[in-house]
Amino acid sequence: MKILGISAHYHDAAAALLVHGIPVCAVQEERLSRRKNDAAFPLNAIEWCLDHAGLDPADLDAVVFYERSMLKFERILTCALRAFPYSWRSFPNAIKSSLGEKVWVRGIISSYLGVPRRKIFFTGHHESHAAATFLTAPTRRAAILTADGVGEWATLTVGHGERRADGGTAITLLREIRFPHSLGMLYSTFTAYLGFAVNEDEYKVMGLAAYGRPTKVDEVRKLICRTPDGAFALDLDYFEYHTTAARSYSPRFVELFGPPRNSYDPIDLETADGRRFADCAASVQRVLEDTLVDMTRALHRETGLPDLCLGGGVALNAVANARILAESGFERVFVPPAPGDAGCALGAALYADRIYLGNADRDVPDHPFWGPPVDAVELARAAREDGQEVEELDEAVLIDRIADLLSAGR
Ligand SMILES: [Fe+2]
Repeated sequence: MKILGISAHYHDAAAALLVHGIPVCAVQEERLSRRKNDAAFPLNAIEWCLDHAGLDPADLDAVVFYERSMLKFERILTCALRAFPYSWRSFPNAIKSSLGEKVWVRGIISSYLGVPRRKIFFTGHHESHAAATFLTAPTRRAAILTADGVGEWATLTVGHGERRADGGTAITLLREIRFPHSLGMLYSTFTAYLGFAVNEDEYKVMGLAAYGRPTKVDEVRKLICRTPDGAFALDLDYFEYHTTAARSYSPRFVELFGPPRNSYDPIDLETADGRRFADCAASVQRVLEDTLVDMTRALHRETGLPDLCLGGGVALNAVANARILAESGFERVFVPPAPGDAGCALGAALYADRIYLGNADRDVPDHPFWGPPVDAVELARAAREDGQEVEELDEAVLIDRIADLLSAGR
């Protein structure tokens, strides 16, 4: 059975191909289109996957899209209506950008690939995240936590998965937290406030956190109300992302943390503002970590399982993952190579194969090398195009040279 998984239309579009339950290839659209975080329907990625496996679209038994686009549209519409009249400016744009390709996904897939509509399936966004982490991990039973900005409605789920001896697979998502309450959006709001690009530069906030001190943890805690069972709700007075696409934080947020950073200003730790920004990063990082540690600790107590699989864009926060491993009680924590939405292409295909179609469980090879190999000639051409010097070195010489450059502070 040949199954194509697709993620698209938000950020990091990708395609993945399963043949008889085992991934044979997967690639993010940006690698081929050379547009960073390309969200477009991933025609290049699909074409590369099919070519790589020597298949035509007609050979596919199923095509699976990584989220329920109608449910997502419902969320966008509902939020816009709830926020009316504050959303009146952004309402037409939100609706225009959601209609068309993003809603009529079945028709788009059918017309691009010539695949009959009955072969097209949809998975839930967080089901795709859960499958992407659990079904690629070397474990047969595990607790699962997925967290991101938002999918359809869910922004965080907890549950567990089992790959049974009889070949059956179960993924059970027990509870979810819904938009606009979102750990990913909390972190992204600070990403925007600190002058970085949302959905791309969250790693810079994590990096900046190392240069600051968590002096503003009490302020950040005002933004996120925690419940004893590890759940949370955001105080929406501090945010605007749920009412407008123009800005993610509110004037009250600025009152609490001070003026936002201009993207073009350097962060100089010798200045009060530079230290304030680094402290904001350290503080939101600390609160994110504490929240995830509490949640995973509760999930460990609840499931009694030794393994935890993490998925969703929040699982890209390696510093938080390290604290989860050290403090949650889980013995092993698995994070897939692409826990964000790009990995959902593979997750959606695996979910449909094991759960919808009931195909037998298979071990998935434990490596991240599913995309096109790096072509040295092509790489040199791209580098020269950018005006870079190109020099070819043997691997041993290359490693020495890089080590020397790193130790020289480059
Ligand atoms: Fe996601």
